[in-house]
Amino acid sequence: MKHVLVNGANRGIGLELCRQLSERGDQVIAVVRKSSAELEKLGCRIESGIDVTRPEDLALLQNRLGDLALDLVINNAGILSNQSLGKIDHTAIDQIMDQFKVNALGPVLLAQALRSRLAKGSTYAIITSRMGSIADNTSGGSYGYRMSKSAANSAAVSLARDLAGDDVCVLILHPGYVRTEMTRHSGLIDADESARGLIARIDELGMEASGRFYHANGEELPW
Ligand SMILES: NC(=O)c1ccc[n+]([C@@H]2O[C@H](COP(=O)([O-])OP(=O)(O)OC[C@H]3O[C@@H](n4cnc5c(N)ncnc54)[C@H](OP(=O)(O)O)[C@@H]3O)[C@@H](O)[C@H]2O)c1
Repeated sequence: MKHVLVNGANRGIGLELCRQLSERGDQVIAVVRKSSAELEKLGCRIESGIDVTRPEDLALLQNRLGDLALDLVINNAGILSNQSLGKIDHTAIDQIMDQFKVNALGPVLLAQALRSRLAKGSTYAIITSRMGSIADNTSGGSYGYRMSKSAANSAAVSLARDLAGDDVCVLILHPGYVRTEMTRHSGLIDADESARGLIARIDELGMEASGRFYHANGEELPW
């Protein structure tokens, strides 16, 4: 039986990851700022009150986990707001910095907090976005989200190097364009299809894929 931790688990892709991983028999620890009725229905362990940008919350999570060894951690928490050229005022700057904190720094802080709990042969998966791909940017805009996800990708490669000696595989995964609250329910696929693809990639990819960037459909993505 595998011990799996997923954050941003109260809704969207994170909720669906918890549902599918629980259904196949993994022991899921769902980490949230605030739980939801849908998450409570899954019957998995829930750790509430954990904001991924707050080291004191992450220290609390460490304590609550005790010496439990984790086979898989999925940093899924993320935020999106839009800033366009000509409209980057103080409010927009604050939004951009918030996206940096959650999307780019969050995965690093969670890895730092859980490093000693990551078992040899485990996987640390980061749900990033192809919006962070510089090569794939044909439409511009979305300054905060794009910059923060590019920074997340960069940080993820550092994590892959730093955790290689611990035999931990770091996967950088784009979930697809998914109908969730983040996209105001526009998108090409639903969260269940996205989660199925993400779990399939996590199951099949090993150390040779650590520090590389994949779409949930299996395609390798350019930086
Ligand atoms: N949907 C897409 O098309 C798409 C495409 C590419 C990448 N992604 C990425 O996929 C991931 C999941 O997105 P989603 O579509 O499922 O979005 P979502 O429905 O908006 O869910 C985002 C999750 O992140 C949590 N979160 C936000 N800020 C947090 C913080 N400071 N600390 C802890 N948790 C926090 C939210 O919790 P609260 O309820 O407490 O706010 C929520 O559980 C994100 O990283 C997103 O960037 C999504």
